[in-house]
Amino acid sequence: TKRWFAIDKLQDKQEAIQAAAALLKAGEAVAFPTETVYGLGADATNELAVNKIFEAKGRPQDNPLIVHVATAQQLKELVSEIPPYVDKLLEAFTPGPLTFVLPSNGRCADNVTAGLDSVGVRIPDHPAALSLLKQAAVPVAAPSANLSGKPSPTSADHVWADLQGRIAGVLDGGATGVGVESTVLDCTQPIPIILRPGGIAIEQLEQVVGTVMVDPGLANEHERPRSPGMKYRHYSPDAPLWLVKGSADKLQQVVYKESQKGQRVGVMAASGTIARIEADLKKDLGASLESVATALYDALRMFNSQHVDLIICEAFSEEGIGQAVMNRLKKAASHYIE
Ligand code: TXA
Ligand code: MG
Repeated sequence: TKRWFAIDKLQDKQEAIQAAAALLKAGEAVAFPTETVYGLGADATNELAVNKIFEAKGRPQDNPLIVHVATAQQLKELVSEIPPYVDKLLEAFTPGPLTFVLPSNGRCADNVTAGLDSVGVRIPDHPAALSLLKQAAVPVAAPSANLSGKPSPTSADHVWADLQGRIAGVLDGGATGVGVESTVLDCTQPIPIILRPGGIAIEQLEQVVGTVMVDPGLANEHERPRSPGMKYRHYSPDAPLWLVKGSADKLQQVVYKESQKGQRVGVMAASGTIARIEADLKKDLGASLESVATALYDALRMFNSQHVDLIICEAFSEEGIGQAVMNRLKKAASHYIE
């Protein structure tokens, strides 16, 4: 295993969590692991502390942050209203990768919500995150701990590569599990609306609450997304990324054609496909959609460091967590070959 915590080079887990919690209470920005990706946290009730997040990331001020808490009771302390279906979802999926957008009661600083009258809150399913939140004893605003425009970090090394020198510390809990961010769910309406697909799939939500809608702004680029963050082209790797739907043979044809032009081509695909591909650089994303989600951002960063001219990626099924995977890939892609 890796060193557990990079904060002050402390090896002891409890001491490191205490050190990180003390920094949060003192108004500093600290990165920490969650089950999805690493977050860059700051005291959500402290406007100056929250500003440090925007500065460190280079994040646009109009993009609201998700607030992290340890319990459903703490979530309720930040909002003015809770529809009954939210209680069912809390019961079924928290702690877990589901963010509830609810009417804000104004307890969080104004820059957390970017002036909206709603606030996004979630309870992360990660022991170090929960322990940190309990010890900090404040709600913690935390976007993904990457520079704006880079893939979200799934390891402390990713955080360090982007934010070293810009933040007070990083709590190193090893690689995250889910790999894509939480599902953002608008719960201010009689029927919940998915604003960002993520770790909890629509099929799972529907099993608990019946009908769930999807923000039309997600599928249609002419419609303005209801979640401010979704209008940005996130997750862009340095090299252009082409998404290719179809068989391994079809992927190979595209790879071959572009390699002939003298380009260094990298390919990322699921195990079954990648085994049948020849290319300059290959990344096996694993056999299931879950493992593809886990490996996705690390793969994009790996191609950055290996200086490929072009990345070819297999297009996946949009079932289950595949919806979140394909949402991120479509945003990263410059071409979609169907
Ligand atoms: O898994 C995650 O959600 C990670 C970990 C660190 O918890 N966090 C994360 O945060 O992905 P961030 O800031 O990278 O993405 C937050 C998304 C943005 O698209 C933002 O616009 C949306 O949530 N959001 C936050 N508050 C909102 C609100 N009140 N109304 C609509 N969208 C909101
Ligand atoms: Mg982000």
